[in-house]
Amino acid sequence: MIGSTARKLARSISRGPATSRAARTPSRAALSLCRWANEIQLSVPELLEVCDVVTSARPMNLLVFGVGNDSTFWRCLNAGGRTVFLEDNEEWMRLVKKRDPGVDARLVTYKTQIEDWRAGLLDTEIPDLDLPSDVRAQKWDGVIVDAPAGWAPGQPGRMKSIREAARLGRTGGHVFVHDCDREVERAYCDRYLRRERLAREIGRLRHYVL
Ligand SMILES: C[S@@+](CC[C@H](N)C(=O)[O-])C[C@H]1O[C@@H](n2cnc3c(N)ncnc32)[C@H](O)[C@@H]1O
Repeated sequence: MIGSTARKLARSISRGPATSRAARTPSRAALSLCRWANEIQLSVPELLEVCDVVTSARPMNLLVFGVGNDSTFWRCLNAGGRTVFLEDNEEWMRLVKKRDPGVDARLVTYKTQIEDWRAGLLDTEIPDLDLPSDVRAQKWDGVIVDAPAGWAPGQPGRMKSIREAARLGRTGGHVFVHDCDREVERAYCDRYLRRERLAREIGRLRHYVL
């Protein structure tokens, strides 16, 4: 009990400096500390793969599907650039924005159910995701797909976010899709992002260059 309270306190004290340091210079050690302080789900090698691209191209236009414990890190990493987040869980979005008002997050509705993923693959056109016009108008240098939820029945699944990532990224832009250990993510990546554009696969993260 005391151990977990002390860990929580240590995390909250180190969160700000650890995030700033890792965003400035994302070394393995800095990312390791930042990941621990923020309870980020991506592994250090997965974070490094994204950081390599962002640090060599920043400031950039970066679109992130999903807000989470990593949102502050992504927006700080892309300092001076434009970082926009798309989130379908309103309550969760409000919580993340309260923690970090600098997070530019927009609410979206997927209208899909993960159970329908096979049928969606057969359709020639699945309906577009309703996006804010400024998001649709931008050609994005980088897109990170880590949402919506897709780990249990009844959840929306990432069919639309993967498809939209392929459309919204600019030619030569980078798309990162997390949780590619799952069948749905792999199938939609193969269909819309295509194998020939897969640059690297690190752990559960696929990196495509469009
Ligand atoms: C897999 S999570 C992304 C996690 C993020 N990479 C991180 O490190 O925190 C993707 C989606 O799950 C949902 N989610 C994640 N954590 C949640 C929470 N604590 N409460 C509600 N929804 C959550 C949100 O809708 C979010 O867009």
